[in-house]
Amino acid sequence: MTQENRKPAAARNWDKAGWRAYPRVQMPEYTDAGALGAVETQLRRYPPLVFAGEAQRLRAELAEVAEGRAFLLQGGDCAESFAEFSADNIRDTLKVMLQMAVVLTWGAQFPVVKVGRMAGQFAKPRSAPTETLGGVELPSYRGDIINGFDFTAEARSPDPQRMLSAYTQAASSLNLLRAYSTGGYADMHRVQSWIADFVGGPEAAKYRDIADRIRDAMAFMQAAGVNSETAHQLSKVDFYTSHEALLLEYEEALTRVDSTTGLTVAGSGHMIWIGDRTRQPDGAHVEFCRGVDNPIGLKCGPSITEDDLKRLLSTLNPENEAGRLTLIARFGAGNVGDNLPRLIRTVQQEGAKVVWHCDPMHGNTIKSASGFKTRPFDSVLREVREFFEVHGAEGTVPGGVHFEMTGSDVTECTGGVRAVTDEDLSSRYHTACDPRLNASQSLELAFLVAEELRTRRESVTVPAPDMKAG
Ligand code: PEP
Ligand code: CO
Repeated sequence: MTQENRKPAAARNWDKAGWRAYPRVQMPEYTDAGALGAVETQLRRYPPLVFAGEAQRLRAELAEVAEGRAFLLQGGDCAESFAEFSADNIRDTLKVMLQMAVVLTWGAQFPVVKVGRMAGQFAKPRSAPTETLGGVELPSYRGDIINGFDFTAEARSPDPQRMLSAYTQAASSLNLLRAYSTGGYADMHRVQSWIADFVGGPEAAKYRDIADRIRDAMAFMQAAGVNSETAHQLSKVDFYTSHEALLLEYEEALTRVDSTTGLTVAGSGHMIWIGDRTRQPDGAHVEFCRGVDNPIGLKCGPSITEDDLKRLLSTLNPENEAGRLTLIARFGAGNVGDNLPRLIRTVQQEGAKVVWHCDPMHGNTIKSASGFKTRPFDSVLREVREFFEVHGAEGTVPGGVHFEMTGSDVTECTGGVRAVTDEDLSSRYHTACDPRLNASQSLELAFLVAEELRTRRESVTVPAPDMKAG
């Protein structure tokens, strides 16, 4: 279905404030209604961060992913923070994602859709509402858009003003991302030279063969006259943003009806997702997300039932449009075989068009011997491999991977060729929430996923592009 015949929000019996009448979980109770209202009024006056045409373009690209003609790479911080905000951090995360995308493009031999958990990924669901330290109980930290990380009553109290700081940080992050994506930084030749640097080191030598093939392909194109001057696709990229749509007051205030298309768009980011803890079919988060025209992600952990999934498919994607809904499977290594097949079969029974996406982070969090929350590289890789294996067996499309990662050289996840050990975790453990893969671990995973994609490519015939007009 095209955007011209998609039903407008009113016809869907939806209003951007309608979620307020539904049960909500994981959201803060603001005690000062006046202060909250003033912030909402201000946000409603601010420009949206993303525009309808961009969200539509991402939907179209995700439709290609659903059909097996493109691959989705989503990555970024578990939680962006005010303290870690810097141009260098944004640049470095983009830099590693661009490298990963080139490696994955080589593996898949089709386009890689790049989505950063960036410029808006501030609000966090928590497993417990409070935290107790030294006999003192305080509200849990819920992300910088809601409260502060410090363990004091003042910091932990939800403050609506934080939404304005988050908006400002998101706006300047996006500004930088847009500049980097089109201003020469993302040039394919430059990205290829970064990859060559990575495999130049002795630990990563086992990936040199793939890197050499990418270099040769670039050299061939150059010789054939295809370069950044003749093909502008080589000098810039489309880079999209995503975050969990958790703090609905913020999401509602940035939701606008686009004047040219009539589409209702969450202006906070290109793609928004519903978390594993907030996907109640009758809950506020599902009610909000069903009405906006952005691509929507839905986290699916082991507790999701087939019945819930059926209801969510029809609520979130009633017109069954490919590209609208991405199911983000996060079961944990060893649990994929028990869960993914039942979801795939449910989707098939319903004839639903979805992107199947693999988040190998959230089911693989453990506490290390040294007391840090961490994720072993091998468990992350194992879950990705199980995801590919199940899709291979079911004849469905493994559409992409979703990582919590950063371009910085942190020590938060263990393992990888530049091995981070349990003892190393304390040296550069900076995350505001869950442990992230560092730049080296992220790129290494991209090489390993590229090998999975190559194996799949050799065994599956990819459907030809849809040639129908429009
Ligand atoms: C997340 O992606 O950071 C997250 C909290 O995920 P989930 O909802 O899958 O637990
Ligand atoms: Co997380």
